[in-house]
Amino acid sequence: MERFEGRTVLITGGASGIGAATAQRLAAEGARVALADTQLEKAQQLAADLEGFAVAMDVSDIESVNAGVAAAVEAIGPIDVLVNNAGTDLFGFFVNTTPEMWEVVIGINLIGTMAVTHAVLPSMQERKSGSIVNVASEAGRVGSVGSASYSAAKAGVIGFTKAIAKEGARYSVRCNAIAPGPIETPLLNAAEEIYGDVGKRLKQGMVDATVMKRAGEADEVAAGIAYLASGDASYVTGQTLNISGGLSMW
Ligand SMILES: NC(=O)c1ccc[n+]([C@@H]2O[C@H](COP(=O)([O-])OP(=O)(O)OC[C@H]3O[C@@H](n4cnc5c(N)ncnc54)[C@H](O)[C@@H]3O)[C@@H](O)[C@H]2O)c1
Repeated sequence: MERFEGRTVLITGGASGIGAATAQRLAAEGARVALADTQLEKAQQLAADLEGFAVAMDVSDIESVNAGVAAAVEAIGPIDVLVNNAGTDLFGFFVNTTPEMWEVVIGINLIGTMAVTHAVLPSMQERKSGSIVNVASEAGRVGSVGSASYSAAKAGVIGFTKAIAKEGARYSVRCNAIAPGPIETPLLNAAEEIYGDVGKRLKQGMVDATVMKRAGEADEVAAGIAYLASGDASYVTGQTLNISGGLSMW
């Protein structure tokens, strides 16, 4: 039997990279997917291929989150699986960053994860069923050069995941995180686009930090998200799964 048959899944940042690969994987396993993204047209194209639903949502804007979640529920039904995947980094050595940049990065990666969870969790708790997967990062575990506020935000996501796992357990709601290493997506290559050679070296530094000495593919992360979201992980909560070619081992 397909693991997500009859299940509804909301994926933020579902238009690109890891989110898009996750949507494809879960839809292939029977899920009805809703993709929430600031890139609405891209999300709509993918949703059409997957017979899913797309909604415009900026996870850092609470009104947009509440409206987007309501539209997704109306389209596909109450959410069984939430994948908090939307994220971004502005890159830059910390001394060169500004408080406005910290707010953007923390607003999307950390507050965004909290806001969407806040909109979805009450219904999961009422129905005594649900699985949340938060896409954190190895940056949140080991710290990443050129990504101080991003590392802080992702460490926050890991802590948030554990607290929600504890609060959710008595309602049979599980909450886990994924910590990807360098994964070939537009996000990983943004540093090179912005900073040229320095950005290229930042990416190479991340690849060199893996023991497998390569960047990962979005599909390899989607496989881990699918596992944690599914009933195969029924006794797993509060965990952070590294999908990072062995970049860190704890
Ligand atoms: N690629 C990597 O190397 C890597 C490593 C570790 C963690 N991650 C995390 O994986 C997740 C997915 O990133 P990706 O690599 O697939 O990048 P990506 O840029 O391909 O996809 C990110 C998606 O999030 C969307 N998004 C950005 N800001 C948003 C907002 N405010 N509201 C709604 N949607 C928004 C983008 O439009 C895009 O579709 C992110 O949380 C990222 O931090 C990526």
